[in-house]
Formats: sequence, structure tokens, C-alpha cells
Amino acid sequence: MRVGLLTGGGDVPGLNAAIRAVVKRGEGEHGHSIVGFRNGWRGVVDGDVQPLTRGHIRNVLSVGGTLLGTARYHPHSSDGGLDAVMATLEAERIEALICIGGDGTLHAASKVAEAGVKIVAIPKTIDNDVWGTDRSIGFDSAVSIATEAVDRIHTTAESHNRVMIVEVMGRTAGWIAVTAGIAGGAELVLAPEDPFDIEKVVRFLKHRHRAHASFSIVVVAEGAVPAEGTAMHYETQVGKFGEIVAGAIGERLKAEIEARTGFDTRVTVLGHTQRGGVPTPTDRILGSRFGVAAIDAITRGESNVMTALRGEEVVLVPLSEVAGKVKHVPASLLDVARALA
Ligand code: F6P
Repeated sequence: MRVGLLTGGGDVPGLNAAIRAVVKRGEGEHGHSIVGFRNGWRGVVDGDVQPLTRGHIRNVLSVGGTLLGTARYHPHSSDGGLDAVMATLEAERIEALICIGGDGTLHAASKVAEAGVKIVAIPKTIDNDVWGTDRSIGFDSAVSIATEAVDRIHTTAESHNRVMIVEVMGRTAGWIAVTAGIAGGAELVLAPEDPFDIEKVVRFLKHRHRAHASFSIVVVAEGAVPAEGTAMHYETQVGKFGEIVAGAIGERLKAEIEARTGFDTRVTVLGHTQRGGVPTPTDRILGSRFGVAAIDAITRGESNVMTALRGEEVVLVPLSEVAGKVKHVPASLLDVARALA
């Protein structure tokens, strides 16, 4: 069989492990030809192909990013995009397509599947918010980077008697903030799932600094929002299209905290450091498992499914059930973060 493969959306550590697994199992054991598309859906639209043989995947397991390149581009949202996808797949004689991506890429995959293409998806996002799977590729590496950052910020926070705000990624779900906050021992964690009351934040910090300590670490997800009706002095800056701007919520919190407490406050925005560099063993293993499961599913003739981790097992879930949904941090995990503040 000729099987297409693409990586779309933001890159994450562990993508190359998944690509490697698809090629090794697909070419080596099943005798398929694996055809890579460069830069996500953009490459399918443009017919930008890259053959993927065992030679192409040597020494990539521990390398971050994606050897195929990626882009934030969705064919169904541009004129003629879906037609161009179908034309390329036909020209390249692609019989099935493996799409590795987060919410945007998987939504596009479900649209292409509706047009009759056999698709198996693999979830990846450092945000860990793809519905239907316990874990997505990249999350573990991001949490480990964010935790190390919080650990490092502890010593400088204490030395300078400061409030340190650490802003992490997570537009719609606070998985990185909550888990790195717990692992790093943050005093406060603010996540989109639990809109915050600035009065309570300030009361908590004042109490802590009076009673126990002269420093605090606040981990905030970039998508955290104040509760409705909360009177804030400062506005959160948004992008031209209303999108979240990196650093905006961190800076807004700093301004509010300094104005209301007088505490010396600093912001660290971890940004793309969370997506770069060497994947953790857990992400390499997850990428490898998902890659093998995806190509095996295609070989068995399954389609329009996504590989998913459920407990210890990798299973397949219908793609149509996944697209358009967000997996939020459960209340029980938010409660642990709160309990340890
Ligand atoms: O989708 C994952 C994510 O890491 C978000 O948490 C973040 O808001 C976004 O990517 C940043 O995207 P870009 O690399 O396009 O700036």
C-alpha cells in the first residue's frame, strides 16, 4: 500500500518517534511505501512530498521537532483546499493517510475523511487537550521543561523575596499549568478551567507573605481568565483576531499584584521552550506506540479512527467523536493543586 503521513499544527517533542515507528513497522514489516507530506496539510495541497524510507529515519528518535516540517494550515478553511488535497492524494496514489496533530489538524482530518479518504489520526499537543486519549505526544516533555523552570525560579524568588509569575502554554486547558504547578510546588496555579478572583489571589499572597514566607510562585496558563464580575484594574491584551497573546495574562497579573500588594513581582513566559528540544522517554515511547498502532490499523483496513491511550492500553477511537471537543483538566486534579497551595 502507499500510505501518506503528515504532521500538522504546533510541533512537539516525540513526533519523530511516531514517524520512525510508522516507517519501520510500515515498510519493514508490512511492506508498505510511506510517503511524507512536508509542512502538514500545506504539503498535501501543494503536492510537496518526501519519500520516507528507513534511511530517512536514522538517528531521529531523540531529536525534537518534526523531520517532515509542520504548519498551521487547514485545507477546509481555504478556497479549493479540499479539492487540492483530493487531487494530490490521487496523483500520488495514496490509499490511506496518517495525520499526526492536535485539535486543528484532527478537525481538518475529519473533514478530509468525510470526503472519502481513509484516515488514521495520532494525537499530539503539549496542551494535552485532545479529547478521547489520556495523553497526547509532547505533553510529558513540556511538563518536564515547565517543572524544571519552576524549580529554578524557586531559588531566585526566595533570594529576592519576590512574587514570581510563570506563564505556561495552554489556551483552552490548563494541563501544563496544573501538573507543572503541582510537581514544582507552586503556591498558586491558575488555569482556564477555574476562572480566578483577583481579590482572593491577592488575599492569599498577602497572608502567605505575612505568615509564612517572603516569596511566592504563581503558575498561570496563558488561557487563564478572571471570573465573571471580577474587578480588574488592567485589561488583557489580545491579538488582532481576538487571539491569546503570549505573556498577556502574566503581565496583567503582575500589574494587578504589584498595584494591590506592593510586592516586587516578575514574569517569566516559558513560551516555545516548552515545545523544543529532546523528547522525554515517555514521549518517545508514546510516539512509538501510536505510530505502530496507526500503521497496524491501516494494514487491517481500519479507517477514520484515532489512536488513543486509555490506561495502559493503546486503543482506537472514532475520529468523528474526537474532532471539535476539548479535554479539560478534571476537578480532582485542580483540587490537588489547590490543596497543596
Ligand atoms: O497548540 C499548542 C500551543 O502550544 C498553544 O498552547 C500555544 O498557544 C500555541 O501552540 C502557540 O502557537 P504558535 O507556535 O503558532 O505561536
